[in-house]
Amino acid sequence: MDDRARPDDDTVATALALALRAPSRGNTQPWRWQITPDSMHLYLDRTRSLPVTAGDQRDVLLGCGAALHHLSVAFAALGWATIVHRMPNPDNPDHLAAIAAIARRPTTQDLAMSAAIIHRRSDRRHYSDWTAPPGYLGLLTERAAASGALIRPLHDRSGDWPASGTRAATQGWTGEPAFGSSGPHDLGNAAAYRTAAIIRERAMTSSAPADETAEPDHADLLLLATPNDDRLAHLRAGEAMSAVLLTATNIGLATCPLSAPLDNADRRLRLRRDILDDTAHPQVILRVGQAPDTPDLPPRTPRRILAEMLFPIHA
Ligand SMILES: Cc1cc2nc3c(=O)[nH]c(=O)nc-3n(C[C@H](O)[C@H](O)[C@H](O)COP(=O)(O)O)c2cc1C
Repeated sequence: MDDRARPDDDTVATALALALRAPSRGNTQPWRWQITPDSMHLYLDRTRSLPVTAGDQRDVLLGCGAALHHLSVAFAALGWATIVHRMPNPDNPDHLAAIAAIARRPTTQDLAMSAAIIHRRSDRRHYSDWTAPPGYLGLLTERAAASGALIRPLHDRSGDWPASGTRAATQGWTGEPAFGSSGPHDLGNAAAYRTAAIIRERAMTSSAPADETAEPDHADLLLLATPNDDRLAHLRAGEAMSAVLLTATNIGLATCPLSAPLDNADRRLRLRRDILDDTAHPQVILRVGQAPDTPDLPPRTPRRILAEMLFPIHA
C-alpha cells in the first residue's frame, strides 16, 4: 500500500512541465497554476489573451482544458490519480479547476498516454493515404466520451458523404463556394479548411510552413462537440480534445486541432444542424491521419517558462 500523502515538489514540477506541452490556439498557453500544500489550482490567464469573440473565448478554454487533461495524464504516469473539481469558485470564473492527487500505481495505458505528450505536435503537412487501425474511431470516440464530448467524422473513410444527416442537407455547409470545386463532399474541402486555418494560424505561431507539395491530403476530419456550449463545456471539450490527440498519437497517428474553420458562425450553425442533428455544439475539428514518410517533421513549438505561470501562494 502506497502511503505517500501528496506528490513531492519534483513530481509536481515534472507534471506541470508536461502540462505545458498542451496545445493551445495560436500557442497562447493561456493558463496559470497555483500550488498549495494540499492542492493545485488552474486559472485562466487573461494577460495571455483578451477574448473578444465567443469563438476566442471557446478556444482559450479549450487550451486550458487541454492543460488540465495533460496534467492529469502526467500525474497518472507519475503514480498519482487526480480528483478534479471544475469551476470551483462561483465568485471567480477564472478559477477553472481545483485538483487533488491520491497515490495510485500507474497502468501501462497511463505510461503510454504520458509518453504521447512528448511526441504529440500539430502536424500541418498533407497526410499520406492510410488504412485506419481497426477500431480507431471507436477508441477515439470512447476517449472523448469519457470527458463528456462526442466525435463525428466529417466524411466517412470510404469517401462517401455525409457521415450523418442527408446528403441534400449538407449542401453548402462547408462554406465559401470558392473552397470547393467538386462539391461540398470531397476532401478538397477538407484541404481548403486546412489552408484557411493555416493562413490564420501561421500569423500567430512560428509553426512549420504549410505543405506546398502536390500530394493530396488524406486526413480524417473529426468534429468534436459537446451537449452544452457554456464555459464548463468548453473546458471539458479541451480535456476531450487532449484525450483524443494523445490517444491518436499513442497509436501512431499525426494530428492537428483546427478552430479557424469554426470562427464562421454560419458554418458552425450548419455543422450543428447537418452533422450533429441540432443536438450538440461544435467545439473543434481534429485532423487525424498518417504522417508522410518524409524527414520534414514539424519542429516542436516553444513554450512559456514554467515559473512565469505560477501564482504565488497567498497566506
Ligand atoms: C483550440 C485550438 C485550436 C487550434 N486551431 C488551429 C487552427 O485553426 N489552425 C492551425 O493550424 N492550428 C491550430 N491549432 C494548433 C495550435 O497552433 C498549436 O497547438 C500550437 O501552436 C502549439 O503547437 P503544438 O500543438 O505543435 O504543440 C489549434 C490548437 C487548439 C488547442
